[in-house]
Amino acid sequence: MTDRRIYLDNAATTFPKPKAVLARMVETYARVGVSPGRGSHDLAVEAGDLVDDARARIARFFGAPDPDRVVFAANASDALNTVILGLVQPGDHLVATRLDHNSVLRPLHHLAERGTISYDLAPFDERGFVDPDAVAALIRPNTRAVVMCHASNVLGTVQPIAEVARRCAAHGVPLVVDAAQSAGQVPIDMTAQGIDALAFTGHKSLYGPSGIGGLVLRPGIDVATTRFGGTGSNSGSLVHTQAYPLRLELGTLNLLGVIGLTLGIAFVEGLGLEALHRREMALLARLRDGLAAIPGLTLYGAADLDRHVPVLTTNVADVDPQDVGAILDGDFGIAVRVGVHCAPLVHRDLGTDARGAVRFSLGAFNTAREIDAAVGAMRTIAGPRSRTTG
Ligand SMILES: Cc1ncc(COP(=O)(O)O)c(C=O)c1O
Repeated sequence: MTDRRIYLDNAATTFPKPKAVLARMVETYARVGVSPGRGSHDLAVEAGDLVDDARARIARFFGAPDPDRVVFAANASDALNTVILGLVQPGDHLVATRLDHNSVLRPLHHLAERGTISYDLAPFDERGFVDPDAVAALIRPNTRAVVMCHASNVLGTVQPIAEVARRCAAHGVPLVVDAAQSAGQVPIDMTAQGIDALAFTGHKSLYGPSGIGGLVLRPGIDVATTRFGGTGSNSGSLVHTQAYPLRLELGTLNLLGVIGLTLGIAFVEGLGLEALHRREMALLARLRDGLAAIPGLTLYGAADLDRHVPVLTTNVADVDPQDVGAILDGDFGIAVRVGVHCAPLVHRDLGTDARGAVRFSLGAFNTAREIDAAVGAMRTIAGPRSRTTG
C-alpha cells in the first residue's frame, strides 16, 4: 500500500478541493456568515450581495440571461426534483433516456407509480450516445418536458444536447438538462444551446463543496412551487413568494456552499474550463490505452473519447468489480467507484446490472504517474495472463 492515495473517483465528487477555495471559503464565511437577505444590518446586506454576485456569476457561466432565474438547491438531485415536480400536471407525459441517473429516473418512476404521469425513455447506441431523432420520436401531444443528462456518469459520453433542444423547440416542449457530470467539464450556453432548465451540482467539476447546486431557468419556463417555507420576503403573507428565485427556494440558504461554489467556478474559469478538460482527457486517453492493452478487460463506450468527460468504466473478466475495488484500495491505495453507479438502466443495457462495473474518473489534480499506477494495478488484478502478454 502506497503512502499517498490516488483518488480516481472524481465523478462521485472531486477531491481534493483546491486549497484556495477551501481557505477563502472559510475566511469569507468567518467574516460574513450570517443569514443573507434576512434583515437590514450591514452583514446581512453584505451576505445578500455575495449571493447576488453568485447568481450573476452562475448565470454568466451557463449562458443564462437572468440571474434571478438562478435557484440554489442542495445538489443536482434536489434541483431535478424541484423542476420535475414543479412542471408536471396529472396526465402529462415526460421523455427521458436510458442513460439517465436515478435523480431523473426515480422522480419519473415515483410519479408514474402514483398514476400522475407516464413517460418513455430513449435508448442509447453501442457507443453510448442518444439519437436526437429517437428522443423526438417519443414526444407526444401531452409531453410536458424532455429531461436528460448532458453527460453519462457511467459511460462519460456527452450527449448532443443542442440537437435535442432543436427538436424539442420544434415541438414546443421544454428541455431540462441534468448537467451534474458536464458542468465545469464542457462549455454550457443555455441560450445558444436552447436549454430551458439546467440542473447542476457544485461538488463535482465545479470544485465547490457538497450540499450546494442549483437550477437555472430560461425566462419563459415556469416551475410551480412544490415546497414551501420562509424566504425572508413578504413574510406577512401565508403564500410562498412567487417571484424568482425565491419561488423555488425555502429556508436559510447554504451560504457557505454558495461562497464555495462561487470560488470553485472562479477556479475553473481561472485555469480555463477547456484547458482543464483537455488535460484530463489526455490523461483519460492514457488510461484507456493502458487498460486496452490488458487482456481480459472490457472497456465500455471508450473507443472514441471525442465527446466525453473523463470517466471510464471497465470490468475484469471473472473478477467481481467489488473485489477489483477492494484490491485497488487495499493493495494500491487507489480509490475508484465500483458496483451499479446510480444509473441502473445503463447497466442493464450493458449487461452489467448483476455485478456493476469499475469506474475510473479523473479530476484537475490527477497526474500521469497516477494513471500509470492505476494501469499497473489493473494489470496485476487481471492476472498472470496479462502480466506475460501485457
Ligand atoms: C448524471 C448525474 N446526475 C445527477 C447526479 C446527482 O448529483 P448529486 O448527487 O450531487 O445530487 C449525479 C451524481 O453522481 C450524476 O452523475
